[in-house]
Amino acid sequence: MKPFREISNLTALIRKYNRQYYTGNVSEISDEEYDALMNRLLFLERENPELRNDDSPTARVGSAPLSSFSTVTHDPPMLSLSNVFSREDFFAFHARIVSELEVDHVEYSVEPKLDGVSLSLVYENSVLVRAGTRGDGVRGENVTENARTIRSIPLKLNSDKPLNVEIRGEVFFMMKNFRKMNRKREGVGESPFANPRNATSGSLRQLDSAVTAGRPLSFIAYATGPYPPGMETQEDFFKKLQLWGFMVNPHNRICTSPEQVTAVYDNLVKARADLPMEIDGMVIKLNSFSRREEVGFLSRAPRWATSWKFHAEEMATTLIGIEVQVGRTGRLTPVARLEPVRVGGVVVTNATLHNQDEVIRKDVRVGDIVLVRRAGDVIPEVVTSLPPEDGIRGEVFRMPDECPVCNGPVVQPEGEVNLYCINPSCEARIRKSLEHWASRKALDIEGLGRKLCEQLVDAGMVRSIADIYSLNYHELTALERMGELRATNLFAALGKSRKSSLSRFLTGLGIPGVGEVASRDTAAEFKNLEALGNATEEELTAVKGIGPITASSIRRFFTNPVTSAVVNQLIKAGFCPIEENTDRGTFLEGETIVFTGTLVMPRQKAKQLAMKAGAKVTGTITGKTTILVAGENVGSKLKKAEKLGIRVVSEEEFLHSISR
Ligand code: IVH
Repeated sequence: MKPFREISNLTALIRKYNRQYYTGNVSEISDEEYDALMNRLLFLERENPELRNDDSPTARVGSAPLSSFSTVTHDPPMLSLSNVFSREDFFAFHARIVSELEVDHVEYSVEPKLDGVSLSLVYENSVLVRAGTRGDGVRGENVTENARTIRSIPLKLNSDKPLNVEIRGEVFFMMKNFRKMNRKREGVGESPFANPRNATSGSLRQLDSAVTAGRPLSFIAYATGPYPPGMETQEDFFKKLQLWGFMVNPHNRICTSPEQVTAVYDNLVKARADLPMEIDGMVIKLNSFSRREEVGFLSRAPRWATSWKFHAEEMATTLIGIEVQVGRTGRLTPVARLEPVRVGGVVVTNATLHNQDEVIRKDVRVGDIVLVRRAGDVIPEVVTSLPPEDGIRGEVFRMPDECPVCNGPVVQPEGEVNLYCINPSCEARIRKSLEHWASRKALDIEGLGRKLCEQLVDAGMVRSIADIYSLNYHELTALERMGELRATNLFAALGKSRKSSLSRFLTGLGIPGVGEVASRDTAAEFKNLEALGNATEEELTAVKGIGPITASSIRRFFTNPVTSAVVNQLIKAGFCPIEENTDRGTFLEGETIVFTGTLVMPRQKAKQLAMKAGAKVTGTITGKTTILVAGENVGSKLKKAEKLGIRVVSEEEFLHSISR
C-alpha cells in the first residue's frame, strides 16, 4: 500500500480508538494492538516526514474530555511513553541514552506499569485542591470530588512547611477489592465489571462522587508536575512521597546496569500473576532529574523513559467441550469449555473460538491440549491446539444446523463467516437483548443484571424487552431471591428508565450497526422517536457516520412488524424519548471558519465542534471566510486573514465561543 494511504488509514483508526478510549470507556482493541498501530504510524511518519500532518495522532495523546466535567489544564502536559518490546529494543534504548549523555553508565528507576487510569493531584499549602484525569494530555476532567473519596490519596500532605506540588500517579483496583466489589454487585443483581481497568475509569468519572466513594479504588504515586526543588532523583522523590503520605509501589527498583533492568523484567513476568494488582509491563526512567533534562522530550513522550510491555500471557490447558452460544443479534459463537487455568491474573474456564472457520483452521478438537491467551481487556481466546502425540483425537467440530437454544433455523448471510439464528423470539436472543437494554450504556437500569434477565426469560415472564414494563409486583416477588425491597427498587429504576434520552433508547434497541456513537448522532439529528421512525434511508444517510448499510438496518428495524411492535409496546408503556439539545447550539451559525497552526485538541475534533455549532469549515481563506482560528506556529494564513480584515481568534476563544 502507498505510504500516504496507509498513514491516512492508520490515522483514522487510531482516532477512532482514541475516541472510544477517552469518551466511551470501552475499547475494541487491546493496548498491544493499539501500540502496534501507533508504532507503525510513528515509523511511517519517520520514513516519510513530508507526509506527517501537524494534527497527526502521534503528536497528541488522545481526544478532548467530555463536556460534563469542568476542565483542568496540565502544565507540563501529562505525556505518554514510548515502548520497547524486547531485550534488543531495550538495549538500543540504553545505548542511545548513554551515547547522548556521553557517559558509561546510568541509573534507572524501574517501576511496574500499573494498568489503571492516570491522575494529577495539585496540592496548595499541602492541601489537595484539584484532581484531574489525563484527558488528551493537556486538558483533562476535573474529578476533584471523586479523588477525595479515594483513601490512599492524602487530603493534606504530611509536612512541616506548607508545600505546593503536583503529584501524578495511577488510580486502580487492588484485585481483592475488585473481586469483592463484583461479588457484592452480583449479590444485589447488578452486572459485574468486566475488568479492573474499565471499572477504574468508569468509577473515577462518575458525576456523583457518592458512587465513586462506594468503589474501593487505590492510588499509587510515580511522577510530579514541575520538579519540586530539593530533589535530585526519582529515588529521593519516592522517599519524599512516602513521608508526605503517599503509597509507592513496593516493587520499584533502582538499577545501575541494563542487565539489572532485564533481570527485573524477568522477575516481574514471573511474579505478575501473584501481584495484588494488574500490571501490563514496566516503566524504565532515568533516575537523575538533571540527566532527564539533558535527554529531553519528543512531542508526545519523554525520551528519558520508556515502557516495556509484557507479551500477552499464554497458558496450556485441556479442552473439555465446545458449546455454541447465541448472542443478541442471533449470532452463533463456538465457545471452548476448558479445564480451569490461570491466565494473566484470572482463572479462565471459557474462551472464544470465534467461528467455524477458525475452529477448522486451528484444528481444535475436544480432548486436545490448547493454548489460551488473554491480552488486557480482550476476551480470552484459544490460540492454537497441540494435538496429542498418539494421534488419537476427537471428532472434527461442526456448527449445528439449527439454533442450539430454540431449535429454529440458522442462516449464513452471503459473504459472512458467521451463522445466525433468525428467530426473533429465541430465548437466548431475548435474554441478551434484555441485558443489553438494561446495560449502563443503554437504559442503565439498576438492579436488572444478567441473572435477573435470565430468570425473567426462563420463567417465561418476558418475551421481548418491552415486557419488563408490564410485569406486576406479585409476579416479580414470586421469583427466587426477589425480596420486596429489591422489587420496589427495580420498579423505581424501570420508572426512571422511561425518561431516558432518545440516544440511550436507540442504543438499547440494539439495531445492528447502531452502537452508542451512531445512536447519539442519529438522535441529535432527529430529536424525537416519531421523526426517527419515519426517516427515509436517504435522510438517515445524511447523518454523519451513518452509511447506507446502517441506514437500511435502521429503516428495516422500524418497518419490520416484529421489531416495530416492540417499539409500539414501549411507547404504550410510557416511553416518549426525545433528545435534549446536546449539541453546542447555533452560536456559530452563518460563520465560515478556517483553522490554522497547531491546535491543542485534534484538529478533526475542532472541526466537528465548529460544525456542530452551525459553522461551515473550509481549508483556505477566501472573501467568504469570517473567522480564522489560529493555533501555534501560524504562517501565511494569518497574514492573509489580517489583510482581508478577517476576525482572528485563539483556540481558547474559539472553545469559549461555543460553550457559552
Ligand atoms: S510515568 C512521563 N510511571 O503508563 C512519564 N507511568 O504510557 C509518564 N503508568 O499514562 C508516566 N505506571 O497511566 C509512569 N510507574 C509508572 C506508571 C505509568 C503506569 C501509565 C500511566 C501513563 C502510561 C504511559
